[in-house]
Amino acid sequence: MTSDAALPYDRAATGFRNYWYPALGEREVGRHPRRMILLGEPIAFVRRGAKVYAVQDECPHRGARMSLGKDEFPGTDTLACRFHGWTFDLRNGACVAALTDGPDSPVVGKVRIRTFPTEQRKGIVWVWMGRGAPVPLEEDVPYLLLRDDAMVKYRRRVVYGNWRYHAEGSGGGHFQMLHKDSLALLMVELFAANQGADPYWGQEGPDGEYLIERVGPPVLRGDFPGLGEWPPKRPWRLFRPNMEQALPDPKRFRHGVETITAMRLPGYLRVRNFPLPDAIYFEWYTAIDADHYQYFQASCHWPRNPLQWAWINALYHLWARPVRKGRFNDQDKAMVRDGTDRAKRSGLHAPTPLYRPDSFPLAFREMCNRYARGEGLEDAERQGRGGPVELRLVEAGEG
Ligand code: FES
Ligand SMILES: [Fe+2]
Repeated sequence: MTSDAALPYDRAATGFRNYWYPALGEREVGRHPRRMILLGEPIAFVRRGAKVYAVQDECPHRGARMSLGKDEFPGTDTLACRFHGWTFDLRNGACVAALTDGPDSPVVGKVRIRTFPTEQRKGIVWVWMGRGAPVPLEEDVPYLLLRDDAMVKYRRRVVYGNWRYHAEGSGGGHFQMLHKDSLALLMVELFAANQGADPYWGQEGPDGEYLIERVGPPVLRGDFPGLGEWPPKRPWRLFRPNMEQALPDPKRFRHGVETITAMRLPGYLRVRNFPLPDAIYFEWYTAIDADHYQYFQASCHWPRNPLQWAWINALYHLWARPVRKGRFNDQDKAMVRDGTDRAKRSGLHAPTPLYRPDSFPLAFREMCNRYARGEGLEDAERQGRGGPVELRLVEAGEG
C-alpha cells in the first residue's frame, strides 16, 4: 500500500460501480435464470416475456441462489426461490409470497431483494451496477454502437487478471512489439516507434468525449546504436501500417472517428478500423472479482447493401472473430495475467521504470482518479472537462 491508497484507481480492484455495463447477449437469457458475477456482485438474469430482469443472486431468507429459482406463476413477472419458495416481484424486488408459509405469510411486503436496472439494446443486455437511479444509458454506451444502422457483433469470455491491467495496457507502445508475429499482422510492415504520444480529451463526430491517444506518424525503422536496424524489413510484409491519423474520407468512413485508440470510463476502449476496415470496435473489461474480468468485445459494422452485409459477415466469422478478436487480442490477455501476478506479489504500485509511451496508461489512471462517477476527485466538475489531460509524469523508479 502507498500513500495513494485512497485514490479511486487504487480502490477500484472490482471496478467502478456507477456505470452501465454490457452483461450478456439478449438471446442468452431465458425463462430459467442465469447466474453471473459482475463487480463482485452475484446477479441472476432472467427473462419474463420481452423483458430481462436482474436481481441479486442471493435469497434474503437463507441465502440460496435465486438463479436456482423457479417460475411458479407463469405469466407474472415473479421468481420463486428454490429453497422455501419466497417469491419476488422482479420489477421492484418486493416479496409477494412465501409459498411454504401460506397466503397469509407475514413476510409478504416486508422483505425485498435487490434489483439491478437493465436495458436491451443492439442484442446486448446492459446492467446498471450503481446504487440509486441510473443515468441514461446513452451517457455510458457509445453512440456509434447504439446507432440504428450499426450492425453489432459481440464476443465475451472470462479472463484471469485484474481489469485495470487490460484497460491501461491498451496503448503505450505495445502494438508493434507484442503483436508483431500475430497472424492478423502477418503481411503488415512493422514500425519502430510512435513518437509524440499526447493523450487528450477530445470529441470526434457525435461519439462524445474520450481520452484519446494521439500519436505522431510512425517511425518505420530505427537505427539502434551497436545493435542494428529494427524492425527488420521483410518482403512479405506488403502493407503499410494504418497508423496515420488523416482526416477520414467522408465517402469511406461512416463513423467520423479519426484517431486510432481512445478510452472512456468506466474503462472501455474504442479502436478505429478494427477488427475489419471501416469498423469501430469497443472492448469492456468488467471486473468479476479482483482476479477475473469479463472481456466483452463488440464491433460495429455498417454494411450498405445486402451484398456487403454477406461479405462482412463472411469475413467476420472466418477472419475477424477468430484471428483478430481471438488470437490477436489474446496476446494482450497474456500480459494482463503477468501484470496481475506481479501486482499480487509486490503491490499495485511496485516501483517500476516508465518510458515515454506510458503517458497513455498514466492518463488512464488520471482519468479514473479525477472523473470516476461518484468517486472521482473532481466529480462535481465532470461536466466542465475538456482540453489536455494534466499528467504528473513519473520518473523512473517512482511508483
Ligand atoms: S432460502 Fe430462499 S426461501 Fe428460503
Ligand atoms: Fe494490444
